[in-house]
This record gives sequence, structure tokens and C-alpha cells, in this order.
Amino acid sequence: MELERAQQQLENLGLEKASLALDSQLEQALKNQSTYVEFLNSLLQSEADERRKRSEETRLKLSRLPQKKLLSDFNFEFQPSLDERQIKELATMAFVHRQENVIFLGPPGVGKSHLAIGLASEAIQQGMSVYFVSMSRLLADLSKAAKEGRLERRWKIYQRPKLLLIDEIGYSQLDRVSGNLFFQLICSRYEKGSIVLTSNKGFTEWGELMGDQALATAILDRLLHHAHVVNIRGGSYRLRARTKAGLYAGPNPLTDVDPNRT
Ligand SMILES: Nc1ncnc2c1ncn2[C@@H]1O[C@H](COP(=O)(O)OP(=O)(O)OP(=O)(O)O)[C@@H](O)[C@H]1O
Ligand SMILES: [Mg+2]
Repeated sequence: MELERAQQQLENLGLEKASLALDSQLEQALKNQSTYVEFLNSLLQSEADERRKRSEETRLKLSRLPQKKLLSDFNFEFQPSLDERQIKELATMAFVHRQENVIFLGPPGVGKSHLAIGLASEAIQQGMSVYFVSMSRLLADLSKAAKEGRLERRWKIYQRPKLLLIDEIGYSQLDRVSGNLFFQLICSRYEKGSIVLTSNKGFTEWGELMGDQALATAILDRLLHHAHVVNIRGGSYRLRARTKAGLYAGPNPLTDVDPNRT
């Protein structure tokens, strides 16, 4: 039968979705009195849509994003120090095409990771490859690979994606070896691929964090050469309910971070 033959041909050509959709698309075309070209376009569109969806799912899985966070779920009114327009501009992903970096600075709970993951989700939707890693996992992974002599292969994981996210810089102290590995990583992406970073520490504190002022300066010099620094100065979103109710009376963690360069 002609229909079955056509379905088989489509399948043989690797157009699986088009093959499956052919029957219903023909019916639709008949009902709508579509032209041949309209019918063909609609059939090819169903194949293209399916492929885009699958490729997006694959990229999302490979990205290892820890949570689902969207920019559209971010409440900008809660964080008046943030320039919503700047975030919208970043969401166009022009910075990725220009191999620029984005650095979110601020105390705990102000939305650094949320915004970073939100940008990553946007990048995935726009067809880009993304990889998310926390600073502690990154350093553990690189040190282990270095010890086992697999570092060369391991670099690729961090060099390949269009957009690399490194979350939570500043929560753990670096030793000399990890400081050097981090430096090498920053060098390897410098002017080649974008990085989005989040840190609770201002740049002046990075020397102490890396245990080496010269190394921190060299890292920051590269990172900040083409960078958008987003300094968030507000209160913790996590504590907002308790702060409002007067239940949170501990030390105030909502202190500003003070970058030395913006
Ligand atoms: N303005 C906001 N609107 C909506 N949700 C927010 C906002 N700010 C933060 N959140 C939510 O609050 C929680 C904490 O935010 P997030 O994890 O981004 O903080 P962070 O700045 O990365 O803090 P930390 O330095 O502790 O990692 C998350 O669940 C996040 O989705
Ligand atoms: Mg975070």
C-alpha cells in the first residue's frame, strides 16, 4: 500500500517522526484543503520540532543542572539592587557569542545560583551546550584526575560546553594544587568560552581564598577582562519569611560583598 511504503521510506531516511505523523498529517491536509507545499512543510516541521525537543532534553541532561530554576520565576521586586534589564540582556545570550563571562556576587540566599541556572536554562533552550559544576565538585574532580593521570581527557568536559557554570566559589578554601588547577581551567577558557560564576566572596577576598594573592590576581585578570559583574546587595530570599515574622534573630548574614573591580 502506498501509505505504508511512504512511511517506510521516511523511516529508512531517518525521519521517524514524519513517518509516524504522516497518516494524521495527510488527514489534516485533506480536511484543511492544504496545498502540497503546505502539507510538506507541516510534515517536515513535525520532524524538526521533535528533533529540537529531543536535542534540548539531551542537552539538559548533559548540563547536570542541579535544579529547575527559570528567570521567569525570579522575583525582581524582592531584589531592588538588581538591574532587571541587565539580566534580560544577559538572557539574550549575546555574551556567550562574545565569549564573555558573568559573575554573580552576593551573600547567601540572594539568588545567585537561581539566576545562573536561569541563564543556563535559557542557553539550553537557545540550542547551546551547558555544563554546571559546583566549585567543590570541580576541584575534587580535577585533583582526582590529576592524581590518576587523566587530566588531559578531563579538561575536555570543562572546555567543550559553550557555557560553563561554576557555582559557589568562596565556600571552601583552596590549597596550592587546586588553586593551580582552577587557574589552568580559567586560562583554558579565556577568550574561548563563557563562564558564569557565583561567589559569596568579593574579589578582594579571593587572594585569601586561593591562598595565593598572585594567583588570585592572575585568575581575576583573565576572568574580568571581558565580564559582566552582577553584585547583589539585598537580603536572603530563604530567610525572608522568618525575617518578616521577626523569628530570625541570629547574626545578620546579609552583608554586602564589595568587589574591588566592577
Ligand atoms: N528574587 C527571588 N525570587 C524568587 N526566588 C528566589 C529569589 N531569590 C532567591 N530565590 C530562591 O531562594 C533560594 C535561594 O536562592 P539561591 O540558591 O539562588 O541563593 P544563592 O545566592 O545562590 O545563595 P548561596 O550563596 O547560599 O548559594 C532558591 O530556592 C531560589 O530559587
Ligand atoms: Mg547558590
